[in-house]
Order: sequence, then structure tokens, then C-alpha cells
Amino acid sequence: MTQISQDSTTPLSINDLQTMKQHGEKISCLTAYDASFSALINKAGIDAILVGDSLGMVIQGHPSTLPVTINDMVYHARCVSQANQRAFIIADLPFMSYTTPIIAAKNAAKLVQIGGAQMVKLEGARIETVRFLVELGIPVCGHLGLLPQLINQLGSYQVQGKTPVDAERILTEAHQLQDAGATLLVLECVPAALAKEISTQLNIPVIGIGAGVHCDGQVLVLYDMLNISITKRPRFSKNFMHNAPSIEEAIIAYHQAVKQALFPSIEHSF
Ligand code: KIV
Repeated sequence: MTQISQDSTTPLSINDLQTMKQHGEKISCLTAYDASFSALINKAGIDAILVGDSLGMVIQGHPSTLPVTINDMVYHARCVSQANQRAFIIADLPFMSYTTPIIAAKNAAKLVQIGGAQMVKLEGARIETVRFLVELGIPVCGHLGLLPQLINQLGSYQVQGKTPVDAERILTEAHQLQDAGATLLVLECVPAALAKEISTQLNIPVIGIGAGVHCDGQVLVLYDMLNISITKRPRFSKNFMHNAPSIEEAIIAYHQAVKQALFPSIEHSF
């Protein structure tokens, strides 16, 4: 299969990710938080970079993403975008930074205008907020399934959507986000069968993390797949440094495994 702009440094847009879905080309995505890794990820040909609020854990050493502020996110998004050439950049709106549509718009604007993000991601079915941001011209990525910003309500990081009622709710919310104008969706820690159904039903690309191989693309936390996280690697992640002579080779191996639908295997799915 011909891959979109594979050898080019032309920046990818959301339209390119949409075309990849339509052509059945898997979308590769990794988190990054600084310029050096941004450059390496670009060199490896990864399609999208998520400046995730997971930086609260892997960069700042907190037990959750909750302490991360909008200023932290803007700073790291800016570091990443400075060195970016081709990858599509998504940045997280952190906990409590989108409590109302107006607050969300002010914070999303910082991620775009100062941080250089092309799209912002927010957790949960915040339909009115998504609609408002999209009306203002800010592209939005939804995030359903396991919502790490709800850890104090959830109690632990667990697979979501295991019961028929829960699965139906997530499927409904995915449609609501798409209808509100979200143009990308991250599905975290849900059964592979549910993620497959959502990816098939939605027109927008669905990027999975712990959501099986049938999503339109995959994302992993960079430090987990390089096996340098200070916390235990989640079951759905994989150590791509195993057998790789360098960090660059590990990222290339991940990119190829995603493109060829070799990752995630059953072992890394629910
Ligand atoms: O913050 C992050 O890294 C994320 C991924 C887990 C999808 O949101």
C-alpha cells in the first residue's frame, strides 16, 4: 500500500489522517514532550504526536495526570512543535482546564497559538464544549474509554466498556462527539471488539491505546514503549527497545508494526 507523504517533510493535516482512514492505512502516533524526541519521532516517520498530560507522570513524576497545568502543557507543546516538521500535533487540555466552553476556548487557544498544536484533546463526552471549540475553528480530538483525569472517581486504571450497558454508552458518546464536530477520537483501554465496532461505525479516525488492532491508528506513551518509565509498563504497551539497537530504531519498529497492523497483538489487547 502506498503510504501518505511517507518520505516527505510536508506537514500532515487532519485531512491526511482522514484520507489514511479511508484508504485503510493505519495511523501511527506517539506521545512526546520535548524537542529532541519530537525530532527523532519525525525522523522515524510517525504520523502524529500527542503532547499528552501523561507528562505529569513520566516527566514530572506525579502519580497521576491531575497536577498538570495549562502552562505545563503549553510549554511542552511548544518544545515539541519547535522541532516538528511533518507530524500532526495534538495537545491535551489538562484536568480542570475545560470546565466551561469559554474556559476551554481560552486554554485551547493557548495550546494552538503559543504551543503550536494543530488540535486539542479533551476527555469525556463534553459535547457542548467540543461544539463550541469547533465553531471557533479549533479542531478537537475526543477521548473515551479509560479517562485518566477521572482517576479519583474510578479508583484505579481499569478496562472500560466491559458490560453491554457501558459499551453502548461509549458507542453513543463516540457518535455524539463526531456529531459535535470532533475530527479524531482516542479510545483508551476498551475491549478490542468494542473498539472495532466504534472504528467501523465512525467516519472520523479512531486512535487506540489498549483498544486492539482494529482501530484506525495506535498511540503509546513514548516512555512506556522505550521502557524508561518510572512506573510499571501497562499490559497493553510493549517494550520496543527489546531487540532495537537504538531509540530511533525502536521508534521505527513501532511505526512499522502499527502500519502493518502487527501491533497490538492479542497479548497487548483486551
Ligand atoms: O496523556 C496521554 O498520554 C494520553 C494517552 C494515554 C492517549 O492521553
